[in-house]
Amino acid sequence: MTKEEKYEALLPQLQSLVSGESDTIANMANIAAALHETFGFWWTGFYRVEGNELVLGPFQGPIACTRIPFGRGVCGTAWQRGETIIVPNVHEFPGHIACSSASNSEIVVPIRQNGQIIAVLDIDSREFATFDETDRCYLEKIQI
Ligand code: SME
Repeated sequence: MTKEEKYEALLPQLQSLVSGESDTIANMANIAAALHETFGFWWTGFYRVEGNELVLGPFQGPIACTRIPFGRGVCGTAWQRGETIIVPNVHEFPGHIACSSASNSEIVVPIRQNGQIIAVLDIDSREFATFDETDRCYLEKIQI
């Protein structure tokens, strides 16, 4: 199965999984698990907007840092810019926060509800340059 085929199969499942549930944290938990299982990423999870920082939410993978200030790291920068950031080599991203030394590439996608960013979806890979426009295209469709 290609990456596109995996996303095409997974996204409708995610949509039906969350459409009957109003609890944001429960939905984040299932989305993180589904993405992680399907693609075998190194770390897959959410940071939730709480005031002027991001706080660790549901995730799959090794333990991670709990709070990220606005504009800091890849996550805080994606939140500040209001756009997805794809990082082919995290060691070259200024201010990257290394929760795990095994991570080499990353994608961070802002998650909106009613136009407001309420969280970011953060995915880490042990390989370099794992994420591309295909990942951006599909991950940006995820609704919580
Ligand atoms: N690398 C992220 C921090 C979160 S961990 O990767 C799970 C960043 O620079 O914002």
